[in-house]
Amino acid sequence: MGAENAVDESMDVDILPSTSGYRNIKDKEKDKRSVHLPWIEKYRPQVFSDIVGNEDTISRLAVFSQHGNCPNIIITGPPGVGKTTTILCLAHVLLGPAFKESVLELNASNDRGIDVVRNKIKMFAQKRVNLPKGKHKIIILDEADSMTDGAQQALRRTMEIYSNTTRFALACNNSEKIIEPIQSRCAMLRYGKLTDAQVLAKILEICKKENVSYTDDGLEAIVFTAQGDMRQALNNLQSTHNGFGHVNSENVFKVCDEPHPLLIKEMLEFCTQGNISKAYGIIEHLWKMGYSAEDLISNIFRVCKNLPIEETLKLDFIKEIGITHLGMVDGINSLLQINSLLARLCQRALQS
Ligand SMILES: Nc1ncnc2c1ncn2[C@@H]1O[C@H](COP(=O)(O)OP(=O)(O)OP(=O)(O)O)[C@@H](O)[C@H]1O
Ligand SMILES: [Mg+2]
Repeated sequence: MGAENAVDESMDVDILPSTSGYRNIKDKEKDKRSVHLPWIEKYRPQVFSDIVGNEDTISRLAVFSQHGNCPNIIITGPPGVGKTTTILCLAHVLLGPAFKESVLELNASNDRGIDVVRNKIKMFAQKRVNLPKGKHKIIILDEADSMTDGAQQALRRTMEIYSNTTRFALACNNSEKIIEPIQSRCAMLRYGKLTDAQVLAKILEICKKENVSYTDDGLEAIVFTAQGDMRQALNNLQSTHNGFGHVNSENVFKVCDEPHPLLIKEMLEFCTQGNISKAYGIIEHLWKMGYSAEDLISNIFRVCKNLPIEETLKLDFIKEIGITHLGMVDGINSLLQINSLLARLCQRALQS
């Protein structure tokens, strides 16, 4: 049992970045292994203070974790902003060394039908674990929006009956998929996308630690493609670094397989001059490179948002882009549709 724990502990520590200057042989061995870890795991925050963004919510959780009496919680928000990370930090801070025996973690890769709620979750809730006064066992239900309604219904009473010994922590992308009665039993914490500055600060820090060679426009491109998703930012940074050895915007857009925003910007500028044939030339080139209509339209929108043009014209542009996007979601996604968008943009620009 002791030996088993030792192995597990060393595996846990393995994903921690080294924080002290002191390095022994064991550390070096771990470093060798951690070379092959994806950076999203290598740099997964272990304490609340390392989690970027959503400060209000995280500071509230930090207070809960100090007092020990945490309510049932649901963290909801877009992918890659730190929901799972936060729950794991909370459980580690609350339970410390007792984490292993007093936390049950289930995510979408586990079967979580009604039987699992009736058996596994209930069994765990009934299990006796010696914890200090005021601490509770924690059941983590990650990606809870993929649980069936039946399983969620079965959870309702379980949550109440075992409330003196067990707490639930749920994470999901879409809070509408969590049934009302479960929502009413939990404190709902909403996470928003991270800001560009927050993503940039984190990737700069990692570039320094990993000795990544980069240019400013390369990091800007990473932030642009990540759209507030820290996981995507780290993955794209690592892929570009591994694939090309140098992070500049060209390489980033090759790795992320997105149309280069400078081309899109140029295209929109031709539209503002009413020059449809040149604008169409660029779109046709991108289309031939194999980008889908959805790729193009979402990129056109993101570039248009920051385009230095008159505000009323920009609003008109965004409206037209929105209407075209609506059509594409309905399945009308031909090159002709994008061409018609360009024609309307040119028309708007000439009218203004
Ligand atoms: N706020 C953050 N601060 C620092 N790193 C972050 C943050 N959010 C995400 N990350 C990085 O991204 C990785 C994935 O984050 P996490 O698993 O918490 O995302 P999630 O919000 O649970 O996403 P999903 O909805 O897809 O499950 C982490 O391992 C970490 O490296
Ligand atoms: Mg998650």
